Amino acid sequence: MEDALRGALLFSSLDDEAAQALKASMSEHVVAKGTVIFAEGDQGDRLYVITKGKVKLGTHATDGRENLLAVLGPGEMFGELSLFDPSPRQATAVALTDSVLLGLANDALQPWLTGRPEVSITLLKALARRMRKGHGALSDLVFTDVPGRVAKALLDLSKKFGVATPEGLRVEHDLTQEELAQLVGASRETVNKALADFAHRNWIVLEQKSVTLIEVERLERRAH
Ligand code: CMP
Repeated sequence: MEDALRGALLFSSLDDEAAQALKASMSEHVVAKGTVIFAEGDQGDRLYVITKGKVKLGTHATDGRENLLAVLGPGEMFGELSLFDPSPRQATAVALTDSVLLGLANDALQPWLTGRPEVSITLLKALARRMRKGHGALSDLVFTDVPGRVAKALLDLSKKFGVATPEGLRVEHDLTQEELAQLVGASRETVNKALADFAHRNWIVLEQKSVTLIEVERLERRAH
């Protein structure tokens, strides 16, 4: 089984045999960059685990403005909320890169939830984590200034996608500047100003759709 799946929370409590059986009940979806996997408001009938690539989750305000809730990578799960609480999808999921997903339909998930309590417990854990992160993001919006939130977003992305290089921690986030601003929850201008300031201080090196973190500790201090 691929490392990304073995490391996925959904599979973490299962032995190899059970993990293979769970995988066998899932369907593979190969999606090209830019594909809308589902849209906010759709009826949800399955959850997804990413085995390859990156997916962004975003919402629209009524005035058309977009906000990114998260950028997810290999091993991460999304789309489970509308299974547990049957209601329309809370966000739109779009592939940021060519990606491979495994989909688990609600019908296929049910026997796992009742037959293997450890699967239910790991899913509860995933929900608890999401709630904590949601609260954290909300208080950052209230209490942390834009440069602090930019530093935090870069550090969060580095934890998921960072690769150590001689120059620093290289993070290929695959986000445009507009998307990065949507993730931070601020205007493109203020986010760009913060990025330019960090680059000027040599804390980061900016490239298109990627960034190298040079001074991680300083960014961490700035994020708090
Ligand atoms: P669902 O509502 O089915 O479809 C959209 C999905 O986005 C949702 O399930 C969650 O899996 C995911 N999601 C919602 N809010 C967040 C968040 N704050 N961070 C990460 N993922 C989220």
